[in-house]
Amino acid sequence: MQLDDLYRQVIMDHYQHPRNRGTLDEGAISVDLRNPSCGDEIKLQLLVDGGVVKDVRFLGSGCSISMASASMMTEAIKGKPLEEAVQLAHTFRAMMRGEDVDLDQLGELEALQGVRKFPARIKCATLAWQALERAASAPEGGRVEDETFGD
Ligand code: FES
Repeated sequence: MQLDDLYRQVIMDHYQHPRNRGTLDEGAISVDLRNPSCGDEIKLQLLVDGGVVKDVRFLGSGCSISMASASMMTEAIKGKPLEEAVQLAHTFRAMMRGEDVDLDQLGELEALQGVRKFPARIKCATLAWQALERAASAPEGGRVEDETFGD
């Protein structure tokens, strides 16, 4: 199997069987973020306790890349210190900008690097990660709504 096919399979699996889809109860940090290019949205919720991401959920409407990226992100950060989750977001976004990054840190998230060939879709892949970075700078139990992001 070609590597591209493997990557495509990983992305489609997360799109068709999203992990951590849903909402969390009160006390979670909640971020609503819109991709200005297409209007698609994500709601990301994090339950942070003692600086650790105890739980994470997302809802959204968007293309396969945005929803797969969100699903993969939630799996990658659940149970991690928030600081590490933010570091991972920086590394992921650097990969999407074409920078040289340590791919070992990214695990199956590497599957999304092929999206770089389609610059218009890069925002799709980074939508959930931008939401994560905003969530990380919100106070615990905080809410960030109706945000859009740039590059
Ligand atoms: Fe809207 Fe991908 S086309 S997030």
